[in-house]
Amino acid sequence: MRASKERRDRITDRRDSMTSAFLQCIEKGCEGRYPLDSKEHQCPGCGGLLDVQYDFSRLDRHSVFKLWQQRKMNSAIIDQSGVWRFRELLPFVPAGAEVVSLSEGRTPLVEVNRTGDWAGVRLSIKHQGNNPTGSFKDLGMTACITQAAILGSRVTACASTGNTSASMAAYAARAGMKAVVFVPFGKISTAKLAQALEFGAVVIEMGENFDQAFRMLRELTDELGLYLVNSLNPFRLEGQKTIVFEILEQRDWRVPDYLVLPGGNLGNVSAVGKGLLELRQLGLIDKLPRLVVVQAEGASPFYTMIAAGADEIIPVQPRTEASAIRIGNPVNWKKALRALRSTEGLCEAVTDEQIFEAKAALAKDGVGCEPASAASVAGIHKLVRSGKVADGADVVAVLTGHQLKDPEISIKRRSERELAQQRLHVEADIHKLRAALESVMLQSA
Ligand code: F0G
Repeated sequence: MRASKERRDRITDRRDSMTSAFLQCIEKGCEGRYPLDSKEHQCPGCGGLLDVQYDFSRLDRHSVFKLWQQRKMNSAIIDQSGVWRFRELLPFVPAGAEVVSLSEGRTPLVEVNRTGDWAGVRLSIKHQGNNPTGSFKDLGMTACITQAAILGSRVTACASTGNTSASMAAYAARAGMKAVVFVPFGKISTAKLAQALEFGAVVIEMGENFDQAFRMLRELTDELGLYLVNSLNPFRLEGQKTIVFEILEQRDWRVPDYLVLPGGNLGNVSAVGKGLLELRQLGLIDKLPRLVVVQAEGASPFYTMIAAGADEIIPVQPRTEASAIRIGNPVNWKKALRALRSTEGLCEAVTDEQIFEAKAALAKDGVGCEPASAASVAGIHKLVRSGKVADGADVVAVLTGHQLKDPEISIKRRSERELAQQRLHVEADIHKLRAALESVMLQSA
């Protein structure tokens, strides 16, 4: 049993001795390099954000595309995983090391014609809700918990609006690590809280919002030797960048005009931007889609900065019902700016009303998601109206989390009229039931 387990979870491919991996500061003029086992998540020299970088060896386009396809036929978890299937592009795991995977990724890319008509574009959605814990965080978590295991960490920690905590708790459990979570008191959905608790995490409810929880946790992580898995951790972004590899593979490597994501702490758009630039650097694609990041209006400091042409972000008190992106001081804004600049990208902000309209439009295509995810579709709708995105453009929107992540809001947001038509309380009496059904059938006639 043990021997077969080892074959299934370990990177056994011979690592090309020419590929070296290291951490590098993103600040121009610093660009300090550090070894992968450095415990820092920010540059020890200047405090800048760090990337995991590689001296990639050249890849042959056709053979690597074929290899990635062929792996889907294998039963080994590292070949099934939508992250590790692309391991040539995240070669930070030494040969022989085990990866901590729940077979994440492999999520559907679905055309949504009604929503596309509503938004005014040709639209597909990449549904990250179909991941083991129901959000895109699982892609990042398999990578960074694998790194935590390589470093011998015992306790992982994060601040969270809910999804990161659920995902970290699951992957930490799988790796046999303890998980500690800081969440704003009373401000995350019960479903996400339930996930973290069930996976055995210790959940510390504290403070007003994500930003406060994150700031306080960061003061304690180094001192207590906790392994921080927030998207400040560059290994998280290595896993998340594979979203775009899957999208392009599912489109036979045809690059869309726009790729749209919601933005909170701005880790995901940064990850996708890095992935795209690497694909181009390696000659695997020859043009880039324009990245679009959409924030909720009440939590949109990045949008405000870009709209004002400013070069520093000004934190805000975040307010939105899309609780997953209720963040006022996004840590990855410099990486996100780099991603938008290098793809001629756009940033938009949408109201909660617009988010829920987009969610309702998706529901008509039979697609559910959590409110934060619908921000991406609301953003495209708004950009088409203002003429910044052309009518009929080819667009892929990333839906970041599952509909059941926030079930209360789906009920709360239905109008009294809708509920009166849809949620009927009828006595268990055959005549009354018949009358109720007859009126339903009249509605659909
Ligand atoms: N969508 C969902 C469903 C999220 O949970 C998050 C972030 C985002 C979008 C934004 O992604 O931060 O990379 O820009 N959730 C984090 C959490 C903050 O703690 O679960 P981002």
